Amino acid sequence: MNAPVKTTLENNILTISLNREEKKNALTQEMYTALVDALESASADPEVRVVCLTGSKDCFTAGNDMMDFFHNPNTSMDSPVMQFILAAVSFEKPLIAAVNGPAVGIGTTILMHCDLVYAGPDALFQLPFVNLGLCPEAGSSLLLPNLAGYQRAAEMLLLGESFSAEQAREAGIVNRVVDDVQGYARQRAQALAAQPPAAIRLAKKQMKEPLLNQLKETIASEGQAFAKGLQSPEAKEAIGAFLQKRKPDFSRFK
Ligand code: COA
Repeated sequence: MNAPVKTTLENNILTISLNREEKKNALTQEMYTALVDALESASADPEVRVVCLTGSKDCFTAGNDMMDFFHNPNTSMDSPVMQFILAAVSFEKPLIAAVNGPAVGIGTTILMHCDLVYAGPDALFQLPFVNLGLCPEAGSSLLLPNLAGYQRAAEMLLLGESFSAEQAREAGIVNRVVDDVQGYARQRAQALAAQPPAAIRLAKKQMKEPLLNQLKETIASEGQAFAKGLQSPEAKEAIGAFLQKRKPDFSRFK
């Protein structure tokens, strides 16, 4: 069976590819654990100077696996999903994302922890947490208003509609929209890999440090609210509707 998370190391660039195309690269507990392992070994390996996170040709990721949400809603701080988010937050080397197709939920929030984000013209972003009866995660309730301004963040998080690569660029989530996103990301990764690595790590740390404590507190408080949200009747209706391939009906909720 193909591993759902693949890694390849070439020219000091570690590429981590999501590889569960038949389910739109929806992320399972096993995949989060593989992502954490990949980031931890990248941190420890001096051969790795840059990490590039990507999906498959037509899809970045459809976000958290809905079956896992339904059966195993573990979002405590030591859960695989939280460990992945925290590993990205504390990752000291440059992290690039190359996005094709849908980037839903954590597919969009994880980009806010990357240093450079490139998207193909077909990329489609969505933060459907409220739509699922849940709250924002991965620090996005802090990072998105900072990046995009409150009103734009509120539109994205409260309405939870999908938005284009160009809108993501305007909102500051994406650096550049390019046709050959993989090729362009590789080229940028090579440029970063040629830079002095200690100076890169220092510059990244200096940029991230002012928000770091607040970010970690936000991730923890969102995590608690998210875990509670998963047990709510609103979330049960939304997740049940997705699995039954029907529209959710929130009209009975106050
Ligand atoms: N979890 C589990 N399975 C998922 C999934 C998810 N998050 N997203 C997609 N899939 C599955 C579908 O159930 C379908 O499985 P099936 O072939 O066994 O029926 C398969 O992946 C293909 O998905 P489909 O919806 O037919 O593809 P699409 O191209 O029409 O749409 C998306 C792609 C990503 C826009 C759509 O699948 C989607 O909105 N997914 C849910 C996203 C979401 O809400 N994620 C949670 C965020 S917190």
